Amino acid sequence: DPVWVVIPAAGRGSRFGGDIPKQYLEVAGRPLIAHALEVLLSHPRVAGAVVALAADDTRWPNWESLWGKPVLRCHGGSERADSVLAALQALPAGVADTALVLVHDAARPNLRLGDIDRLIAAADAHADGAILAAPVRDTLKRADAQGDIAATEPREGLWRALTPQAFRRGALAAALERARADGVVVTDEAMAMERTGLRPRLVEGREDNIKVTTPADLALVEFLLGKASQ
Ligand code: C5P
Repeated sequence: DPVWVVIPAAGRGSRFGGDIPKQYLEVAGRPLIAHALEVLLSHPRVAGAVVALAADDTRWPNWESLWGKPVLRCHGGSERADSVLAALQALPAGVADTALVLVHDAARPNLRLGDIDRLIAAADAHADGAILAAPVRDTLKRADAQGDIAATEPREGLWRALTPQAFRRGALAAALERARADGVVVTDEAMAMERTGLRPRLVEGREDNIKVTTPADLALVEFLLGKASQ
């Protein structure tokens, strides 16, 4: 069955500083979001994408298709979950409630097809969906109010949530609507699913699928994308 991609790209990217929303920062000659869309749409199971943009976005290059597949746009909302919900509503008529949707951060350009393959396979097999994730490698410290170490937290069983995250369209929309009704801000889509008692599967993904948040991250993805194309 065809899979659709949803990219929330309506945020300000304010943590990066500067006034360019971070999905439009350029690496290897193209904006971050172009790298993400290009690899996602090149996957044979993917039928198309919906990108949620800020209402005042002036930088979207008006792609209407990539690899012959439609790239639709919609207006995002004030929180990430509102943007994802708007994109789910903007899917073409005929996309089933049970269709898999891959939600991907616009600022994660270094995604590989092998990870998409394994994520889709896990979500096909698991009713509650699946997410890419990476095990925590560093020792975790909890800080006190002075910035001194208050405790060392066990890292066993802890994972960092990456994207894409794959869920059935109807189940994801219901979970996001419930989080919104409860006034809870979710930082990823799996969190909304978990709140309704569902248990998405963790799929170990590549550690170099990084979210660009700082200038150092930008230099790192420039290096990684340069290597990938050699
Ligand atoms: O801030 P963070 O990096 O977690 O944002 C993740 C993604 O969510 C970004 O691609 C951002 O554009 C998107 N977002 C959105 N609508 C919002 C807030 C964030 O689409 N209201």
